[in-house]
Amino acid sequence: MTQTEEKTQATGTPMVPIEKIVSLSKRRGFVYPNSEIYGGVSGIYDFGPLGVELRNNIRRYWWWSMVQTNDNVVGIEGSIITHPRVWEASGHIENFVDRLVDCKNCKRRFRQDHLPEENLLKNKCPVCGGELTEPRTFNLMMETFIGVVEGERMKTYLRGEACQNIYLDYDNVLKSSRMQIPFGICQIGKAFRNEVTPGNFLFRQREFEQWDLQFFVHPSEMQKWFDYWKQFRFEWYKGIINHKDRLRFRAHGPDELAHYAKQAFDIEYQTVLGWMEWEGIHWRQDWDLSRHSQFSGQDLSYTDPETKERYIPWIVETSGGVDRTFLNLLLDAYEEEPDPTGKESRTVLRLHPWLAPVKVAVLPLQKNKEELVTTARDIHKKLRRLMVSQYDDIANIGRRYRRQDEIGTPFCVTVDFQTLDDKTVTVRERDHMTQVRLAIDELPMYLLERVMWK
Ligand code: GAP
Repeated sequence: MTQTEEKTQATGTPMVPIEKIVSLSKRRGFVYPNSEIYGGVSGIYDFGPLGVELRNNIRRYWWWSMVQTNDNVVGIEGSIITHPRVWEASGHIENFVDRLVDCKNCKRRFRQDHLPEENLLKNKCPVCGGELTEPRTFNLMMETFIGVVEGERMKTYLRGEACQNIYLDYDNVLKSSRMQIPFGICQIGKAFRNEVTPGNFLFRQREFEQWDLQFFVHPSEMQKWFDYWKQFRFEWYKGIINHKDRLRFRAHGPDELAHYAKQAFDIEYQTVLGWMEWEGIHWRQDWDLSRHSQFSGQDLSYTDPETKERYIPWIVETSGGVDRTFLNLLLDAYEEEPDPTGKESRTVLRLHPWLAPVKVAVLPLQKNKEELVTTARDIHKKLRRLMVSQYDDIANIGRRYRRQDEIGTPFCVTVDFQTLDDKTVTVRERDHMTQVRLAIDELPMYLLERVMWK
């Protein structure tokens, strides 16, 4: 079966091959390979004009639903570089390792934990059947140095997981805000890993952006909050995708738990790559605050203001990322369907209107009629103060609709000859291509109601 022919078991809807997303991303300015003119760097990408809009929307929506609308959650923004002891305390120096094997015949490299069971048992390459080498261990932390004088420079690391800043700032947040347990701290920020097998486009990169909630609780309430946030995050993803049947939980087996987790679930999304992790929900217990107390000598225990009980808070972590969300949303939204004219097919990105990079395109029916152009430009100027709007008068109207469909613009406003008579325009909706006629004055409210998250 080719990738294009693969279907989800539940619905039979075709799943889009990654190559189509890579191609669209480059062609339309979502994602570019980093340092491309020098041959690129594996596992590192840049984001173009549409990519940055989509990323900003994804980040803002996450922040809005996690921080702004939860009274018991606050946010921070920590630095990428920290004291090197942080990574000893966190266990990353000792435990953040991948075991690698190489094929002696075809020279391909594999993570040992990614090998199919049969190949693992027989020590055979899954591609050519050649013999595999003994596993070698690699630490994933990226090293860097602070200071300029040789010999006095301090070796440290670019953070391997963004959440460590939250534990480092936990006590400061407690003292500077009026938070009491149970409460959470959120952060979005870059993380870096020397992934030995980066790949699948944005799925496994060496530089990527994580989002975390660390929720601090009394040990007796751990199960309740773990269940709460696990479900909350699942519903969050479900709310922004079309193919709801491609989302599921998967519990980690005891042999795959990270060194800090006593229990973990992945929220997985199904693509042509199979079921893959989108976000991790981790029962971190008291690992982090106990370790940082021990390594720093600072007491990070909490005293309950009412009962005076003193304890190290336990932590529920929900940890996902902008990049996998970006990739999964494109995979979820991409569709090729026959054009109603029957002459050609259209590519449409059915992105949620809340997240679409461009919210509205304003199009004069004809470019050579000055009044149409002036009116369309005026409408665009008013709308762009409220949302991302594009003005477009190049090519016939059908082509312009297609261009907007392909980048996921939920609404196109067309200024035609009737507009000049009665100050109304047509608003075309992306998914069903239906049109309504509206007064120009009604446009801002009509669009805002549909593109602002709620
Ligand atoms: N603090 C816990 C932690 O870092 P993780 O499961 O290693 O847990 C959490 O990472 C999330 O970060 C993943 O669910 C994924 O969304 C994202 N992520 C991890 N490694 C990534 C990579 N190499 N490229 C892109 N995203 C990655």
